[in-house]
Amino acid sequence: MLAVIGGSGLTELSSLGEVRRTAVRTPYGEPSGAVTHGTIRGRAVMFLARHGDGHTIPPHEINYRANLWALKEGGATRIVSVASVGGVRADLGPGVLVVPHQIIDYTWGRPSTYFEGGNVPVTHIDFTYPYTGELRQRILEAARAAGETVLDGGVYAATQGPRLESAAEIDRLERDGADMVGMTGMPEAALARELGLEYATIAVVVNHAAGRGESKDGIALDRIEAMLPETIGRARRVIETLVALA
Ligand code: HPA
Repeated sequence: MLAVIGGSGLTELSSLGEVRRTAVRTPYGEPSGAVTHGTIRGRAVMFLARHGDGHTIPPHEINYRANLWALKEGGATRIVSVASVGGVRADLGPGVLVVPHQIIDYTWGRPSTYFEGGNVPVTHIDFTYPYTGELRQRILEAARAAGETVLDGGVYAATQGPRLESAAEIDRLERDGADMVGMTGMPEAALARELGLEYATIAVVVNHAAGRGESKDGIALDRIEAMLPETIGRARRVIETLVALA
């Protein structure tokens, strides 16, 4: 079953039928909120709001381990995450949707593995390709079917937040090869891999990154808020088509 982790601006999937919400406890504590089970055009789907139902949990305080555990326990086998990002590459301006193909992790101090503590054997996952290729392709196909333009590929830099970056930090990310920057992509992707879940992201560009384009003199946070509903609405249409085609 497909599960959607919604980011900023996506706290629910409007078209869900037969909704049931379950509070889940996990060995890793509480997820961000109740897991919603519903259907889209007769197909089962789960949904979890990453920042909590009231959008109160900042990126570095999200219990990523509990979130993915709860979704797996509820029957999820594949996760589509929706995440807002700033565009580092010039052509990634507000309103663009991208399915990234790579990640660079700059986060720190976040519980980022299930393989620690107690008697857990030392375990390494292969993370060469952090996103599931087949799921990425399905998202791109759904986008085509929904008539939405979605870019194929890009390097997602995961920063710690919650503050936005300095212009020099964005220059560094660009030198590192990053195309977009967000705060929630890690450890989420790695934990999904550890649990054997398929995982891919729809990145929603809501601003030019610090010092770039229209953010040359600073990031207009009110513009981001204004961008979210329409852009996230397009991501939602892609997801609804994805579920219907699955
Ligand atoms: N930086 C980091 N995370 C973000 C940004 C940004 O510019 N925009 C949306 N999420």
